[in-house]
Amino acid sequence: MSSIYHFQTVKHIVHGPGSLDQLADKLALLDRPVRRIALITQPVIEKNGVVARVVAALEKKDVQTLVVRDVQPEPTIENVETVFRDQIAPFAPDAVLSIGGGSVLDAAKLFAVRLTNSQPLREWLGVDLIAQPGVPLILVPTTSGTGSEVTPNAIVTLPDEELKVGIVSRHLLPQLVILDATLTLDLPKPITAATGMDAFIHALESYISTKANPVSDMFAMESMRLIGANLVEAYNNGHSLPAREAMLIGSMYGGLALTAAGTAAVHALAYPLGGMFNITHGVANSMLLPHVMEFNLDAIVGRLARVAHALDIARHDDSDQAAAEKLLARLRDWTAALEIPQDLRSFGVSEDHLDALAAAAAKVKRLLGNNPKPLSLDDIKSIYRRLLP
Ligand SMILES: NC(=O)c1ccc[n+]([C@@H]2O[C@H](COP(=O)([O-])OP(=O)(O)OC[C@H]3O[C@@H](n4cnc5c(N)ncnc54)[C@H](O)[C@@H]3O)[C@@H](O)[C@H]2O)c1
Ligand SMILES: [Fe+2]
Repeated sequence: MSSIYHFQTVKHIVHGPGSLDQLADKLALLDRPVRRIALITQPVIEKNGVVARVVAALEKKDVQTLVVRDVQPEPTIENVETVFRDQIAPFAPDAVLSIGGGSVLDAAKLFAVRLTNSQPLREWLGVDLIAQPGVPLILVPTTSGTGSEVTPNAIVTLPDEELKVGIVSRHLLPQLVILDATLTLDLPKPITAATGMDAFIHALESYISTKANPVSDMFAMESMRLIGANLVEAYNNGHSLPAREAMLIGSMYGGLALTAAGTAAVHALAYPLGGMFNITHGVANSMLLPHVMEFNLDAIVGRLARVAHALDIARHDDSDQAAAEKLLARLRDWTAALEIPQDLRSFGVSEDHLDALAAAAAKVKRLLGNNPKPLSLDDIKSIYRRLLP
């Protein structure tokens, strides 16, 4: 556990079913008046009328909106730059709003700072490289996964390097977050599974991170408790508002935990799977999770045991080893219950790719450094190999 840590978070969080309808009124919370908003969203969100409702409410307040739909899922750095150059910059918004999954939330974060800083995104890859704060940013998640709405991170894909990379800066934190679980009721099953597992992994990796601290522990534990009790229910019964509420809060807590402590080897090994084989973020993480935790087990038995007790899957007289193993078994049960793929071959990966995957993962030093056990290239390769049965 780290003895010195720093935690900073967003300014305003508005939460509750239907809270998106208050967005226009809540603009008063921003630190300056806004008149032109770029709204970054995904076509599927537009389909159910959500975007039209928000645009109409903003118009009533004399706020002009440009709806931007061209950010791709898990965007490349070029995609973010192109959308910025062709759509955002010419519109010159004085605030950026995003309603959607982590992909568009992350792009919106970058647009907000790109409007006030002239450097290309490539110069920001890494930590604390953005000089000026951006325009006010409002984030409304529609997946319960990334926790991006409360993290200072934005992830972009670098196709040339076949990798995904984080841009981390306090200037990426939004001023206003709206958490409305009704937006997540129609999330399809595979997206519920992959994003829900991603959220749980943020919490678990923060809990076992070398940078874990009292703030991250509190959010991580509550995140795992909420997600552990509701993930399978949200998957099987998508229209359960209580389950969706718990997932949305659990994923926000996961984002707060990772802000305070950072994710580790699961995320580091997932990035090349996204960069080289386009495996979606949550799926790549979920596939790796049980194997990375088995690798870590001897270094974190006590911590995993505490998680097992919090999830109510261990008996009070279980040894730490027995409780931790029950948690690992539960993680494997989830991957089966949520129909998470188990075989990298179905994504085109073979033994021939192991060297390149491991070399790429080894570059993700920012996250590997948080892992409770160091990983050699051979360790990384043997974890990937377990996904090639
Ligand atoms: N910033 C962070 O802290 C952070 C943390 C983890 C992951 N990420 C990044 O976030 C991205 C992944 O985000 P994600 O997992 O939320 O997925 P996503 O944004 O890529 O969305 C996945 C799919 O779900 C659809 N979708 C979104 N909301 C929906 C809804 N309510 N109903 C129906 N369909 C809906 C989207 O259109 C898309 O097709 C990756 O690029 C990942 O690297 C960022
Ligand atoms: Fe993640």
